[in-house]
Parts: sequence; structure tokens; C-alpha cells
Amino acid sequence: MGKESLLLFLWIYVAKTWASLAISTEATSLSNTTDWVVDYSNIQTKFSLRTADEPEDDLCYLVPGQPETISQCNFNPNEQTFLVIHGWTVTGMFESWVSKLVYALYKREPASNVIVVDWLHRAHQHYPTSAAYTRLVGQDLAHFLNWIEAELDYPLERSHLLGYSLGAHVAGIAGYLTKKKVNRITGLDPAGPNFEYADEQSSLSPDDAEFVDVLHTNTRGSPDLSIGIKRPVGHVDIYPNGGSFQPGCDLHKAMYMIAAAGFKEMDQLVKCSHERSVHLFIDSLLNEHKQSLAFRCGAKETFDRGLCLSCRKNRCNKVGYEVKKVRSRRSSRMYLKTREIMPYKVFHYQIKLHFFSQKNISFTVQPVQVSLHGTQNETENIALVLPAMSTNKTISFLLTTDVNIGELLMVKMKWEKDSYFSWSDWWGSSSFMIRKLRVKAGETQAKVEFHAQNGDFAELKRGGDFATFVRSKESHVSKRHAREHRRRMYASPWGKKMD
Ligand SMILES: *[C@@H]1O[C@H](CO)[C@@H](O)[C@H](O)[C@H]1NC(C)=O
Ligand SMILES: *[C@@H]1O[C@H](CO)[C@@H](O)[C@H](O)[C@H]1NC(C)=O
Ligand SMILES: *[C@@H]1O[C@H](CO)[C@@H](O)[C@H](O)[C@H]1NC(C)=O
Ligand SMILES: *[C@@H]1O[C@H](CO)[C@@H](O)[C@H](O)[C@H]1NC(C)=O
Repeated sequence: MGKESLLLFLWIYVAKTWASLAISTEATSLSNTTDWVVDYSNIQTKFSLRTADEPEDDLCYLVPGQPETISQCNFNPNEQTFLVIHGWTVTGMFESWVSKLVYALYKREPASNVIVVDWLHRAHQHYPTSAAYTRLVGQDLAHFLNWIEAELDYPLERSHLLGYSLGAHVAGIAGYLTKKKVNRITGLDPAGPNFEYADEQSSLSPDDAEFVDVLHTNTRGSPDLSIGIKRPVGHVDIYPNGGSFQPGCDLHKAMYMIAAAGFKEMDQLVKCSHERSVHLFIDSLLNEHKQSLAFRCGAKETFDRGLCLSCRKNRCNKVGYEVKKVRSRRSSRMYLKTREIMPYKVFHYQIKLHFFSQKNISFTVQPVQVSLHGTQNETENIALVLPAMSTNKTISFLLTTDVNIGELLMVKMKWEKDSYFSWSDWWGSSSFMIRKLRVKAGETQAKVEFHAQNGDFAELKRGGDFATFVRSKESHVSKRHAREHRRRMYASPWGKKMD
């Protein structure tokens, strides 16, 4: 074939493709599809309307083109609809999280319709094959949604697609193809391989729904090899614990769980961090009163220094179901820390302090322990590592607690001696003086200053005792006032109100 005829051939091919595309757009642009013969026979994906009573069983399928199935399955056209979309499967069966999510959705929204999108057959292939199938499954889902919309005049503003892994891209493709925009897509650790560099039409993107929120929980490794996609793909992209790896998912823990539960759950262990995205969402449905907050931040490292705990101008948001629908122009990365088990919520604090010393000393990677005492509870001996401690330097670090301690009243800090011998110990010069701590609470946005309990400075001595700091009444109190205040507080540290 000459160059020209090859081009001609290509051109004809392209023209044909265009023609078929044009036909299909024409077909989908007709609003009353019931009168129009739409071919639903190609749809391989199944749509199981599950029930609150039996969230793990597929009892009734909604079949596009068969309106009688809508009433047979007791689809409630006046309520919102959740569509749960699974990802790639090694076993060819639903993973256990599916029914857990269905249960949690019904628990929170009892009247809603929870539909499980079943594409197990196409998802049970080699990964690249299944990844390529997301396009077809997305088309099936779009047909399904268009059908429901046309058949019942059902507003797609009531639909919320929840897709895990490859399922997140299925949701994106479906949302891109439906005639009317779906209300919301939640991407639960959208798959990375084959999608990190994919265009917006073939992967989840902010245009695919009125609002797209994403949880990134397993983004380790180089891009396109990472299990979860690294780049932001929604309006709000949340990276719990930095997004790369989740607490409680380490190998040690895995071995322990295998010992306890056997290899039965092996599948889940391998995907522990990946699947955490689903459980974080379930947590937000079930534990309404333990709502986690995430904070916008330029980088994980900055967040880990406690520098991003602001809620001004939508800089913080709720994680999961109750997320505030903020559509900023730039997609924003948000961060939070979590516990390793449900409920995942922790309380975030930024602590800022200045090291004074007569001598010019400097340390790196030092273990410290911090205890926080508040109006409601206390949390003792939180271990953390300070990257650097140097004379005349201010540092800021992030501290989290599992328990709600209420309003913070007292902070204690201890500098641990690491196990190996150090010359500076021998010289006896491992100590800093600290005048005050500035603490910012992410959850309450309260900013409080703490000063040394005894005297103007507290000594933080390596291998020494706790240095204790108590709450200052306000930031700019005079020395005399500060002393009086200290005395009052010292006399009744647990007094009701300190004014
Ligand atoms: C669609 O419905 C409208 C009335 O709602 C009707 O006038 C029109 O003919 C229908 N279109 C087709 C293709 O049947
Ligand atoms: C302290 O050490 C730093 C470098 O470690 C040096 O730049 C600085 O001049 C020193 N200051 C004094 C007062 O010795
Ligand atoms: C620390 O700063 C003070 C002034 O703020 C200075 O007098 C002192 O020499 C500095 N210490 C060291 C070790 O550099
Ligand atoms: C304080 O926290 C502990 C967990 O560390 C918890 O068991 C206890 O109930 C809490 N106390 C109050 C008063 O909330």
C-alpha cells in the first residue's frame, strides 16, 4: 500500500468511526428513549438493587430496557440512588467491603436505593484488559442511568456514584457520557496503572459530575506503577496520612492478622492501604459524630510540620459523606492523619516553640514524648521524632491524639535519650530552655499560648524529666499578670473556668 492509499484507508476508517459516533450521539440525544429502539442487548454489566435487610445478597436486578424490573425491585424514584462500583478482581467474586459499604449507606440513608454495579466478569481478567474494559462498563452504566432518567423522569442530581480502584474510572467514564450530569462521584483510591497519564475522557476527572471527591490511600512507588493514582482527579482530593501508605497496614501487622485470621483475608491484607479508602468512607457514614477533617496543604512534608491546620477560606473540609462541595478552580490536595482502626478520627495540633541556649548546640532526629491535658481528658506520652533541635531556632511540629481532650490546659514535653552513646551527653550540654509553646488545634481552630509552669523558662534536658507548660490567659499578658495567672492555675490546675 502506498502512502496515499494508506492515508485514504485511514481517512475512510476515521470517517466511518465518526459516522457511527454521530449516530450514537443522535440516538442518545433523543429524550424519550422508550419510543426509540435502543439496543440494550450489548449491556453486559448487571445492576443489582440491594436491600437494607440483606446488604450482601443480589436479589433483584434492574435491567435496562425492561421497565417492569424497576417496580419488581422496589426502586424508589423519590429518593437518592447510590451506585457502588467495584474494581479489578483476582477472585472473580465481590470483596467483603462491597456489602459493608452497602450496609453503611442504608444505615445512613435508609430510604435510598443502593445499586451494586456488577462487572465481575470483565474485572476478572489480566489487569490491562480489565483496565481497558472500564470504557465499556462506563458506557453500560451511562446507558443504565440514561434509561432510569428517561423511564422515570428520575433526576440524575439524585445519583451518587462510588467507585473503588478501576471502578472510580468506570464512574468517571459513565459520568462523562450521561446526558445529564450526575450529582456526585466519589473516587475511592482510583487505580493508578494505565491511568496516571490518561486523558480526562478515559479517567476520572472533575468534569464527570457536579462534584467529584477523591480519597487517595495507596500511592506508593513511581507514577503509573503506584496502585492508586497520584495526581488529583477531583474537585477535592484527600490524601490521608500522606496518601502513600496507611497505618496498620504494615507487614508486621499483616503477619499478626494472618496468624489470627488465617490466609482467608490475605487478599485484603495485600490491598490494605488501597482498600482503606473504602473504610474511611464507611467510617464517615457510620460515625457521624466522629467526623474527620482534612486540611489543604501544598505538600505532605509541610502538613507533617503542622503548618496547614487552617480552616480559613475552605482550607479544611470534612472527609467522606459530608464533604463540603467546594469547587475550586485548581484541584486541591488535602491531608489528615488517621487512626489505624475505625473510627479513624484523630485530633490535630500544631506545636511551635523556640529553643534557647547559652551554647551553640544542634541535634537531629531526636525522640521526644508529649502529654496533653485538657478539660475533658488527657493523652500521655505521645512519642514523636523531631527532625532538628538547634540553639536559637524555632520549630513547628504536628501532634495528633485519638481522644478528644477538650480544651487544652497543659502540655508536657520530655526529651528522650536514645540508646547509643553521644559525646554531647558526656559534656553535659544537652539541654535547651523553652519559654513558651504556641499551640493551634485543627479541629477547633483554637490558638493558645502556653508558658513554663515554673519560672520564665522550662528546661528540656536530654534524658531528663518532663518540661511543663500551662495555658496563658492571652498572648500579650504582662509579666505580673502572667505570674498571677500562673499562681492561680498552679493552685487549681483543674479549676472550672479561668478568667
Ligand atoms: C418523544 O415524545 C414527544 C412528546 O413528549 C413526541 O412528540 C415525539 O414524537 C417523541 N419522539 C419519538 C422519537 O417518538
Ligand atoms: C553557631 O553555629 C552555627 C553553625 O552551626 C554558626 O553559623 C553560628 O555562627 C554559631 N554561633 C555562635 C554564636 O557560635
Ligand atoms: C542566640 O541569640 C541571642 C540573641 O537573640 C544571642 O545573644 C546568643 O548569642 C545566641 N546564641 C547562640 C549560641 O548563637
Ligand atoms: C479518656 O480517654 C480514654 C481513652 O484514652 C477513655 O477510655 C475515657 O473514657 C476518656 N474519658 C473521658 C472522660 O472521656
